Amino acid sequence: MGYAVMLLIVFFCHEVSSISILPHKHQTISLLKFKQSFTIHPSAVTDYCPKPYPKTSSWNTSRDCCSWDGVVCDDITGHVIELDLGCSGLVGTIDSNSSLFQLSHLQRLDLTRNNFSNSHISPEFGKFSSLKHLDLSYSYFSGQVPSEISHLSKLHSLRLSTIYDSNALRLTTHDFKSLLQNLTQLRELHLFGINISSTIPLNFSSHLTTLRLSETGLYGIIPESLFHLPNLETLDLGFNYELSGYFPKTKWNSSASLIHLNLHGVNFSNLPESLGYHLTSLRSLDLAYCNLRGPIPESLSNLIRIEYLKLNGNSLNGTIPPGMLSLPSLKGIELSFNHLSGPLEDFKSNSLIWISLEGNQLQGHLPHSIQNLVNLTDLILSFNNFSGRVDVSLFSNLKLLSSLSLSYNNISLTNDNKVTWAESLDTLELVACELKELEFLRSANQLLMLDLSHNKIQGRIPDWAWSNWMFSLYYLNISHNMLTSVDSIPLQSLHTIDLRSNLLQGSLPIPPNSTKYFFISQNNLTEEIPSSICNLTSLVMLDLARNNLKGAIPQCLGSITALQVLDMRLNNLSGNIPTTFINESSLSRLNLHGNKLEGKIPQSLTNCKQLEVLDLGDNHLNDTFPVWLGTLPKLKVLSLRLNKLHGPIRTSRIENMFPKLRIMDLSYNAFSGNLPSSLFQHLKAMRTTDPSMEASRYGGNSYYQDSIAVVSKGYEREVVKILFLYTTIDLSKNKFEGHIPTIMGDLIALRVLNISHNRLEGHIPPSLGRLSLVESLDLSSNHLVGKIPAQFASLTSLEVFNLSYNHLEGCIPQGNQLQTFESNSYEGNDGLRGLPVTKSCGDDHASGTTYAVSGQLDGEESNSEFLSDFRKAALMGYGSGLCIGISIVYFMMSTWKPIWFARIIVKLEHKIMMGRRKKQRRQRNCRRRNNH
Ligand SMILES: *[C@@H]1O[C@H](CO)[C@@H](O)[C@H](O)[C@H]1NC(C)=O
Ligand SMILES: *[C@@H]1O[C@H](CO)[C@@H](O)[C@H](O)[C@H]1NC(C)=O
Ligand SMILES: *[C@@H]1O[C@H](CO)[C@@H](O)[C@H](O)[C@H]1NC(C)=O
Ligand SMILES: *[C@@H]1O[C@H](CO)[C@@H](O)[C@H](O)[C@H]1NC(C)=O
Ligand SMILES: *[C@@H]1O[C@H](CO)[C@@H](O)[C@H](O)[C@H]1NC(C)=O
Ligand SMILES: *[C@@H]1O[C@H](CO)[C@@H](O)[C@H](O)[C@H]1NC(C)=O
Repeated sequence: MGYAVMLLIVFFCHEVSSISILPHKHQTISLLKFKQSFTIHPSAVTDYCPKPYPKTSSWNTSRDCCSWDGVVCDDITGHVIELDLGCSGLVGTIDSNSSLFQLSHLQRLDLTRNNFSNSHISPEFGKFSSLKHLDLSYSYFSGQVPSEISHLSKLHSLRLSTIYDSNALRLTTHDFKSLLQNLTQLRELHLFGINISSTIPLNFSSHLTTLRLSETGLYGIIPESLFHLPNLETLDLGFNYELSGYFPKTKWNSSASLIHLNLHGVNFSNLPESLGYHLTSLRSLDLAYCNLRGPIPESLSNLIRIEYLKLNGNSLNGTIPPGMLSLPSLKGIELSFNHLSGPLEDFKSNSLIWISLEGNQLQGHLPHSIQNLVNLTDLILSFNNFSGRVDVSLFSNLKLLSSLSLSYNNISLTNDNKVTWAESLDTLELVACELKELEFLRSANQLLMLDLSHNKIQGRIPDWAWSNWMFSLYYLNISHNMLTSVDSIPLQSLHTIDLRSNLLQGSLPIPPNSTKYFFISQNNLTEEIPSSICNLTSLVMLDLARNNLKGAIPQCLGSITALQVLDMRLNNLSGNIPTTFINESSLSRLNLHGNKLEGKIPQSLTNCKQLEVLDLGDNHLNDTFPVWLGTLPKLKVLSLRLNKLHGPIRTSRIENMFPKLRIMDLSYNAFSGNLPSSLFQHLKAMRTTDPSMEASRYGGNSYYQDSIAVVSKGYEREVVKILFLYTTIDLSKNKFEGHIPTIMGDLIALRVLNISHNRLEGHIPPSLGRLSLVESLDLSSNHLVGKIPAQFASLTSLEVFNLSYNHLEGCIPQGNQLQTFESNSYEGNDGLRGLPVTKSCGDDHASGTTYAVSGQLDGEESNSEFLSDFRKAALMGYGSGLCIGISIVYFMMSTWKPIWFARIIVKLEHKIMMGRRKKQRRQRNCRRRNNH
């Protein structure tokens, strides 16, 4: 029977084509012409086509066109009415004279997921007057969507979505609205990723079942009517950060039809208690980053059909409602980055595939019922307060588990049952879990990302581990453990390896040449640095600080163009600094502080135009002042302290020297001559205070934390992270002579000025009283004469002040901060009088005033906001796992986008969303300001 029907059709087609008016011949020619206008690359859009299949390649005249792949003709008329060429690997363009437009009877046209080379969508598409289904999505179209599309008044379904985040296609507000007005038959509208930048109109076809408008730049308020469309099953408005809305409080009418609701990133402050009673058909609900506050409505435990639930990135607090993690259909739940507290109840439904509860304050033991979640692939519980012993056998049943994160809880992970498990794991994060050994990972040979930092792993990494990891491992962090040896790093896919703060001895192990980030500081490595390190031509960061490495720095390091951070501080390195820095250098941080380097400062450093931090302090360098460094446009920090540098500081005739410099430390050298007033005329960054710098002081997102030893407040400490704010000039312990240049008073951004222990003479220039931010001012041990300028009374930020051992005389200006220092700030002078040195300075009410001032300054929290910032910054330093954890993600992502790195994506998303929120707030404020 089936055979007979087929014969009949073939016969019929044949009849039509050979005998009657030949619509077929025309159609055949049109289709073949269309085919010929493209080349075929099945791999052109593989990201979006799981199975690309070049349908047109089998088209040829030996068969009737109606039987061609992807072609459907009308049984009666023989007209081609459907053309389905989705995922066919077509590469080319569709111009207005394309033969496609001769197929005027088309009712369905599907060209999705091909590559139309960023061409425009032709207005001719608007002439397919019978068209009911048009799909041009994800096909590399760009430009304005033609308004003619809204002539297709019979359309049931229109799909124009474009590639995520590209916004390559645009739709005017007017066209968007007339589209919705004219297409009254519309059931499905997919405009994902198109730049619309409009408000949402009030009128929609009541037939609508699917509306996808995410990432379209929509703004304004979501009309409530949208929630009442009687047939709407899918509503997707996510990633429109300028959009806000509110849920209907009482009357929901027919919202019960909603199956998929995505409002990701839309501003929704209310989450009505009754939500879960109205939207009972929901299978997926995404309310991540919606600014939600307060408790999670208990009614959500009523959503018995829900499969995917995302509420992450809000400010939800309280406990997780009973039953919510055991909803019968639940496959994925994401509650991370909220303020949820309380224990987890037992999991009763085993359908769960992913659970992310990261970044809350959840507590108590992990429920044993986790072991029943046999389909679980992702379990993310990091950054909570879970506690107690957790035996790895809890997870050994979970044969599909691919990501597990238990980092930063109070868990102690044990392996009492000596299980080995984790065959399926690709991402494992067990930071700070009191781990002692790796034995449980014996069968884990799929790992891509492994973070075991801040544990108690001792000795060496076993050979079986290296061979398990050899081909897959991409990110390895075993920092802050007690490893004593790593002989080699036989990992072929390695991108990042972090071995900081262990007890590693012997020679520096060299990772494979794929490595971009290599951290091995704070160990006890002793040998020379092998020159094979330069085989790592992809290196971006190399951190070898705080070891005992000896010998010379390999010259070749200067020619790794990708290298941005080279940190070798606090080792035993000797010989010369490499002279080979090349023009293409990306170097922005070079820290060689605390070695035994000798010779000159290499002029090739002027090639490093990206250099921001240069610390060569505490070495044996023997040179004159490298004034040519002044041409580096981004240099912010220059420390040459404690070397054998000598001679006068001469500036060249270059304009605008050291334009960005904020820290200049030349102390403990043998510089001589006058203080370099010609230098102080430049230093643009120190001559202005820039409030925007203050705002971005913690904005750094570098894995590597800048730090530098700065002497301030009387003792040396490491200034981490905020060093760009720590505007400092330290010229102490040299042989400078002559007067203090008046022009130094122009460096109003200075926080620290130290010119002590030189041979300076003459009066203290009153202009220094203009340094209103200065917190530490040390002019001690010079030959200064005369009085303390009265203008010093306005130095209200001072915390350290030292004028001792000069030849100063006269009254200490009274009635201000100057009396609050110990008398040793003034000792060793010829004749200073007044508080705190002597009782009075011939002024009767002095003591009363002094009392008032010191009373005001009483207590730890003095007027220095800076000091508390400093503490904060120090806390964020090397020790901070969170900060580092998130920033490494940033670095990995900036260079490489592994779609499969689910963990990273989640963390990154959080970061990006937070960033977007900030940006959005800024833009809104800006708009508001402009409107006024
Ligand atoms: C609506 O469609 C009709 C014909 O289908 C067309 O003439 C008209 O211009 C369209 N309106 C808009 C605003 O596109
Ligand atoms: C949740 O946060 C709100 C403020 O947003 C607060 O009033 C309430 O007490 C918090 N509830 C819990 C359980 O912490
Ligand atoms: C696990 O997944 C499989 C395949 O999707 C499914 O058949 C099975 O029912 C699931 N198991 C549980 C306990 O839900
Ligand atoms: C890394 O080394 C291998 C040989 O071991 C070589 O084939 C490859 O080109 C090198 N890659 C880079 C980026 O240098
Ligand atoms: C570092 O290594 C040296 C020599 O190998 C050894 O003498 C010293 O004790 C080690 N220091 C530490 C802190 O382990
Ligand atoms: C690595 O460097 C060493 C010494 O510089 C050299 O002999 C060796 O051939 C290099 N190996 C590779 C794989 O490039």
